[in-house]
Amino acid sequence: MVTPLGVAVPMLYTIPLFLTWARPGERSSALMGGSAIFLTLVGVAFSPGEVSEVVIVERAMAATLQLVVTSLLIVQKRSTRKVKAAQQAMHESEERLRLFIEHAPVALAMFDRDMHYLSVSRRWITDYGLSDRVVIGQSHYDIFPEIPERWRAVHQRGLGGEIVREEEDRFKRPDASERWLCWEVRPWKTADGRVGGIVIFTEDITERKMVEQELRNHQAQLEDLTAKLLTSQEEERKRIARDLHDDFTQQLAALTIDLQRQARLASESGTPTASHLVQMGKKTEQLTTDLQRMAHRLHSSLLEHVGLEAAFRECVDECSTRAGLTTELVMRELPRGISLEQATCLYRVLQESLQNVTKHAKAANILVRLQPTRNGLELCIQDDGLGFDQSENAAHSNGLGLTSMAERIKGLQGTFRIESTLGFGTEIHAWIPISEVEPDR
Ligand SMILES: Nc1ncnc2c1ncn2[C@@H]1O[C@H](COP(=O)(O)OP(=O)(O)O)[C@@H](O)[C@H]1O
Ligand SMILES: [Mg+2]
Repeated sequence: MVTPLGVAVPMLYTIPLFLTWARPGERSSALMGGSAIFLTLVGVAFSPGEVSEVVIVERAMAATLQLVVTSLLIVQKRSTRKVKAAQQAMHESEERLRLFIEHAPVALAMFDRDMHYLSVSRRWITDYGLSDRVVIGQSHYDIFPEIPERWRAVHQRGLGGEIVREEEDRFKRPDASERWLCWEVRPWKTADGRVGGIVIFTEDITERKMVEQELRNHQAQLEDLTAKLLTSQEEERKRIARDLHDDFTQQLAALTIDLQRQARLASESGTPTASHLVQMGKKTEQLTTDLQRMAHRLHSSLLEHVGLEAAFRECVDECSTRAGLTTELVMRELPRGISLEQATCLYRVLQESLQNVTKHAKAANILVRLQPTRNGLELCIQDDGLGFDQSENAAHSNGLGLTSMAERIKGLQGTFRIESTLGFGTEIHAWIPISEVEPDR
């Protein structure tokens, strides 16, 4: 018979075995377990009395039990170690995430489903004037009780799994200063795929907005200045044209009449200078015509007196005789209510375009079309000349012609477009709105 005491005595070795529980690692338990089994088995030789079968069975049972205990201890310690390592890894990854968020160069905050802060970036703290120790674990709505309803609604949409983004939004800080923000609300998900909360990211774009606004102001100022320059240029042309017409051409006309009378008198009295005087009279007459033309070009009184159609016809004809080009002018019935300002604008575009064709294009034909559209008037000047590269031209040209045409049209809320292909000619399209209700000029 096996006595319980015979088994229990060697089992006393399990006491130091259990004590190894407190030591880290499986090695101490394995060593202690091995030693206990060894001593239990070898101890048979030193036990008093005869080595009976009973004693051997008792020792074998005790050694088996010790083996079981040792194995259990080792398995337990191993799994504890694994759990600890996993916890450590998780802790490290959480810490990395926290550091990542904290040092992110944008304002970033992570919330749980109840909008309690889980993590924030430093930028968030500084941008919203908070203290990080106070923030974590607190409710966003407790910190900002005055948060507008529309933002609460956006948070709810985020918690519903939606990504919401706004490129420009105004935000009032607690110190009442106003900032411009670009923001995004994104849901974050737990390992099982449920929405665990949201992440809000905001970028302060106030500086950018200010720069943009400043640029817009400068642009407006520049446009204003250009418009003023064009107007004063028009005024100046008008003045010079008036002077030329009222003063010089009148004087020249008087001189012509004088010369013609002298020539007549001289030829009657048979003076040899008669033919010379006739020549002088003709030259002066030509000079008068040229000056009148110049005055017209500077300020086409034709526009005021005979209207846009006649002025256009004269301008195109003049270009054709001057440059020896084949010109075609197509005009459909023009709408009523074209103001003098609008007529002058279109006339200047025509003048500059024709000048450009004769100066740069080396064209043989020009087609000018002036036709009404549904709510405006369109002018198109087309040539079959060399054409030009507009991008290159924009970078290198010192000319003002194209720019001033575009500005004039823009000043009348119209549209201006150039289509040019190297080797295939150029088309200028200008359109201005005309309201039919305006009284006839
Ligand atoms: N019809 C055209 N055909 C060919 N090139 C043109 C034409 N119109 C304009 N250009 C090109 O565009 C440039 C700018 O024109 P513009 O602004 O009127 O200045 P400018 O006539 O004083 O040179 C010209 O120098 C020329 O190279
Ligand atoms: Mg030009």
